[in-house]
Amino acid sequence: MIDPSPVLTIDGPSGAGKGTVSRIVAARLGWHYLDSGALYRAVGVAAGWANLDVSDAASLVRCAFDTRVEFVDRAENGLRVLVNEVDATEELRLETTGALASAIAAIPEVRLALKERQRSFRRPPGLVADGRDMGTVIFPDAPYKVFLTASAEERAGRRHNQLMEKGVSVIFDDLLREIMARDARDAQRAVAPLRPAEDAVLVDTTGIGIEEVVERVLGLLPVSHRNQ
Ligand code: DC
Repeated sequence: MIDPSPVLTIDGPSGAGKGTVSRIVAARLGWHYLDSGALYRAVGVAAGWANLDVSDAASLVRCAFDTRVEFVDRAENGLRVLVNEVDATEELRLETTGALASAIAAIPEVRLALKERQRSFRRPPGLVADGRDMGTVIFPDAPYKVFLTASAEERAGRRHNQLMEKGVSVIFDDLLREIMARDARDAQRAVAPLRPAEDAVLVDTTGIGIEEVVERVLGLLPVSHRNQ
């Protein structure tokens, strides 16, 4: 049997730095990158465009099957996400979209609808998969698994700084409350809750810079992968 391409899963709560770390690690390894949260966010955005109700599970499941999502690298504009051919990159990053994605992601059939799509990202020479259930449900056989955490205060602080840099003024306590509510919803849902895989390595990023986190994660892989 041919060995499947290696996968490095990076799971963890929102704001732990998964996106940034995963992108850098994937670029260093020359591997593909799956931002699974963007798929749930894209379904949320498409559901909003179609005026679907968050309580209408059947329509949301259909929407999860039907929504086309493409990740396009536009050199000068960075990585863009097209939802049904429309560039929705900015809308995807909104806090409101994250909260909506978190609510939609609690519907078991929505998760099922996106399962094979996520697995299709596994291609040579390898994949870095970022999400909540990459190591537990989507790629349980992944040889490398990381669970990235940071205190809720640190995560809210990072988000606060990002928004301030963009000129968006927000109250820190509101952000902290939103982050804790999203953590609770993601961790307490019945299907694929946020939790570390038994064989995941826990990396706490509280007080640690991105570069050091990247080095720690890369350090978990054999040198043969790192030299590709
Ligand atoms: O990683 P993110 O913030 O872009 O994810 C948005 C929401 O999508 C998150 O709050 C929960 C859901 N999600 C999920 O349930 N499973 C994943 N693998 C990724 C995201």
